[in-house]
Amino acid sequence: MFKRKDLLGIQELSREEICFILDTAESFKEVLTRPIKKVPTLRGKTVINLFHEPSTRTRVSFEIAGKRLSADTINISPSASSLTKGESLKDMAKTLEAMNPDIIVIRHPIPGAPHFLAQKAKFAVINAGDGAHEHPTQALLDLLTIREHKGKIEGLKVAIVGDIIHSRVARSDIFALVKMGAAVKVVGPPTLIPPLIEKLGVVVEYNLERGIADCDVIILLRIQLERQNRLFFPSIREYSRLYGLTLAKLSKAQKDVLIMHPGPINRGIEIDPQVADAPFSLILDQVTNGLAVRMALLYLILGGES
Ligand code: CP
Repeated sequence: MFKRKDLLGIQELSREEICFILDTAESFKEVLTRPIKKVPTLRGKTVINLFHEPSTRTRVSFEIAGKRLSADTINISPSASSLTKGESLKDMAKTLEAMNPDIIVIRHPIPGAPHFLAQKAKFAVINAGDGAHEHPTQALLDLLTIREHKGKIEGLKVAIVGDIIHSRVARSDIFALVKMGAAVKVVGPPTLIPPLIEKLGVVVEYNLERGIADCDVIILLRIQLERQNRLFFPSIREYSRLYGLTLAKLSKAQKDVLIMHPGPINRGIEIDPQVADAPFSLILDQVTNGLAVRMALLYLILGGES
């Protein structure tokens, strides 16, 4: 069962709630294969997408998810809103609340912004990424993709490689994978791995080849230069040489290893184009599953279950 007003993070979800969301998303995947990919489930409901940071995958898939469920979907970008005139997030929330929306999907650079909004508002809130804190819908779509291709999550060995310290995807994936019984390794240069991360139940490895050697799934992360206020490694070229995943480095991994990446990918930096476009790369499956997961969440949070 999933009975929550908001989805703010993976950390607070139980394993049962996660399984229920994944099962619901699986049933929505069938809807997406129909000639007419639309159901009337959320007719009369209003979904507002409030994205304070750039996004392609998350914003577009929430918009399509809302439309597929027949909700009225509205996108607000900060540059076109009264935030540019100095309005605070709190005042903006009150203003939007006066128009009685049912749900706000928010991406914000400040960790905790969705939680603040959820406390203040009667409408439901979904966290579409808050700073380097959490990106819960990404973790759910990652779980769905792994479960679909490996038939299970429990007992799998998963390596998360790259800029762990700045990554909300890494945090949500760690919470989700550990909760579901996977063994998680974080791999990257010491400066990009937060101290004490082992307390989240993961193993740390600084060498890429050793890190990926026995893994079933490798999740690559983009270097988030936009969140770096100092140099964390000598150069992109050096990072790419040591941590960029190529077919040659991948030959050290298991034969049936799967490659994932939340996107956007930087070809030639963390991932070689031959790996990104290989048959064992699930990057586009993740995008497709993102739509199903977001449909499931809108449906469950807006009372579709009844
Ligand atoms: N994975 C992800 O959050 O991508 P976007 O920034 O394009 O939404």
